[in-house]
Amino acid sequence: MMIDRLKKIENEAVRALQNARDEETLNQLKIKYLGRKGLITNIFRELGKLPAGQRPEVGRVANEIKTLVSKELNSALKRISREKEREAQPQLDITLPGRRPVIGTLHPISQVIDEVCGIFSELGFEIVEGPEVELDYYNFEALNIPKEHPARDMQDTFYISDNVVLRTHTSPIQIRVMEKQQPPVRMVAPGKAYRCDSDISHTPMFHQVEGLMVGEDISFSHLKGILTIFVHHMFGEDILLRFRPSFFPFTEPSAEVDILCVICHGRGCRVCSHTGWLEVIGCGMVHPEVFRVVGYDPEAVTGLAFGMGIERIAMLKFGIEDIRMFFQNNIRFLKQFF
Ligand code: PHE
Repeated sequence: MMIDRLKKIENEAVRALQNARDEETLNQLKIKYLGRKGLITNIFRELGKLPAGQRPEVGRVANEIKTLVSKELNSALKRISREKEREAQPQLDITLPGRRPVIGTLHPISQVIDEVCGIFSELGFEIVEGPEVELDYYNFEALNIPKEHPARDMQDTFYISDNVVLRTHTSPIQIRVMEKQQPPVRMVAPGKAYRCDSDISHTPMFHQVEGLMVGEDISFSHLKGILTIFVHHMFGEDILLRFRPSFFPFTEPSAEVDILCVICHGRGCRVCSHTGWLEVIGCGMVHPEVFRVVGYDPEAVTGLAFGMGIERIAMLKFGIEDIRMFFQNNIRFLKQFF
């Protein structure tokens, strides 16, 4: 009878403690069960009224329950203080709008390289690459630029050693391709080039795309046709262009392609040095000496070659006045080309 009452008190107490959500409730429960007039305390007080035979058993159970309820009380206290701590921390606000991660895009120079290569790809040109640290032989000698040739002065070469250089143009790739491959050849080669030069229109590292087409009966008209198609794709069908005689040791005849100044439309301005024209491509017919060096028969094949500066094309296309902008990694500049 008394034991039953005790068990009931125990069950109630444990359930109440486990459900308690705050310290105030815990305090009340402590008073209710373990306080001076608490339900468990009362049992001890009533022990004396019990028949002597029941006292030890009821006393023992009452003690057990007192211990158990005290333990429950302690763990409830700990649990509630942990919950309070967690609530004090800043909560995740699931109603806030998400923040989109910033995703990078291709550098404007890469975009222009892709566009140039894409145009020549469609014309059947294969895309190849070559080393940036190059032998003097490929960069100069094989391109009909012997040691002491005045053309070497034009190039502001970075020398690694007596016969190793940072390539000053992508033309050595022409030689490497022809050494490995018999005609016909139709290739474009994008890549970096290096010259010891730095101002508003020159950076020590810049990009070029080289082109080479070799076969039977390749003529200057092919060169004009292909480069005209290219310029029209790149700058629009309405752009005016001209082929102006020029000189390169590895082409004969040589020419440069000018487009009508995109800034002043031929009237003359700072960008075109008041000529009304902008040079965009160096080109010509492959020099017979170059064919001899790679073991091609200059009597059997002819070829056209061209090379263009990518930064220059990008500057004209996007209206950028200072070439150094491309390499300063200013995110606000680069973002314009996303
Ligand atoms: N390599 C030359 C330069 O860097 C460009 C060029 C390439 C000219 C191919 C003719 C033929 O200026």
